[in-house]
Amino acid sequence: MSTPFLLRGGRAIDPASGRDETADVLIADGLVVAISTKRGELTPPAGARVIECEGRLVVPGLIDPHVHLREPGADDKETIASGAAAAVAGGFTSVCCMPNTTPAIDLPSTVEFVQMRAQASQRARVFVAGAATVGRAGEQLAPMGAMAQVGAVAFTDDGDCVASAGMMGKVLAVCASLDKVFMQHCQDPTLTAGGVMNAGVVSARLGLGGWPAVAEEVIIERDVRLNRIHQARYHVQHLSSAGSVEIVREARAQKQPITAEASPHHLLLTEEMCGGYNTQAKVNPPLRSDRDIHAIIEGIVDGTITILATDHAPHTSAEKARDFSTAPFGMIGMECSLALYIKALVESGAISWARLIALLTIEPARLLGIDARGHGRLEPGLSGDVTVIDPTVEWTIDADEFKSKSRNCPFNGWKVKGRASNVFVAGRCLLIGDGVASAARVPSQSVRLDAL
Ligand code: DOR
Ligand code: ZN
Repeated sequence: MSTPFLLRGGRAIDPASGRDETADVLIADGLVVAISTKRGELTPPAGARVIECEGRLVVPGLIDPHVHLREPGADDKETIASGAAAAVAGGFTSVCCMPNTTPAIDLPSTVEFVQMRAQASQRARVFVAGAATVGRAGEQLAPMGAMAQVGAVAFTDDGDCVASAGMMGKVLAVCASLDKVFMQHCQDPTLTAGGVMNAGVVSARLGLGGWPAVAEEVIIERDVRLNRIHQARYHVQHLSSAGSVEIVREARAQKQPITAEASPHHLLLTEEMCGGYNTQAKVNPPLRSDRDIHAIIEGIVDGTITILATDHAPHTSAEKARDFSTAPFGMIGMECSLALYIKALVESGAISWARLIALLTIEPARLLGIDARGHGRLEPGLSGDVTVIDPTVEWTIDADEFKSKSRNCPFNGWKVKGRASNVFVAGRCLLIGDGVASAARVPSQSVRLDAL
């Protein structure tokens, strides 16, 4: 039995029900058991801890639907345990991990291995995206039905695109029959061969191979057309270009079942950051231009893009110390993304707090099909996954303090505002920060995280 918690006087926001009001929230027995707007109505049960939440936001546990946890195969970069701890430190109660591990997550037994490790870590919940093709090689369908049966929530070959139209059609057909989302890494490899950064004046100046936006756009166009036949739930990962926003907007206007996600780096950084051959800025898809950033934010404002995802991609310092052309693509994000989303979207006045919370809770929950299990909502009787956010705390991103095993963060040193102060998973308090640095003083009670 875990300690009950009364979160007193915070701004409770539940975008799914439209709740946005000052309220007390009682967490007990692994669940949110009561929410009351009448001050003092909820009396804390015996043994409860009271957390004063005035000036803070009390929201459904944040969900990151796109992270790389590197296990099996590269536990020098991250483990499921370190990644799940990093998630909690960043305010996330659930993440969905990608299958580009070694071996790839393309069998039910590998899905179960990840679930077992996640369970043992006792940190954030880890949902698994299975590979769509065997070894992510794009040639043969992976046993998606069998993986779904043991709990895979989505399918993707992320890190690589399902490039063949023939294979894509088959994958969409299977995903439609399973009612699982297919998440596409949109990259026509014939257009990006030799590319390491956005194609443009900066790549020309640096003498680096260019990666054009059209490589992403032609895949989305093609898949939208293919999916008119299959009507699977189709999701664009880490959307990076203005042209892509346009295509998704049009497809959604035509009521096609398509969603898209944006990542913090594509909201805040441009290709200029690759100057000086800065490998921390090397990412797939690449950082692009101010124009693309504006279009992506516009897409979030008008509801074209409904999901935020970090694409947390840990790499060792030794790998990132290689020259720009051979260093790996990717950057970590879970532990600073909340403040970055706040900066790009709320501080800028683009969207409201309630909308930001929707993009981080109910929307990704629906994407992964875990809303039906009560995730992504703050409601009595539903999951005790709750995040408390202190929107005023100012802090400096210091990658050396991260729980992640990797340090490849281009935002290191940035001064930002807003941070998760408390995180509850299945009613269990995993993060108690009074504002800032006390990140993750973990109480000792040990409660089995309830099954996914
Ligand atoms: O930059 C990236 N890194 N993009 C991806 O799609 C894969 C990821 C990784 O696994 O490192
Ligand atoms: Zn990824």
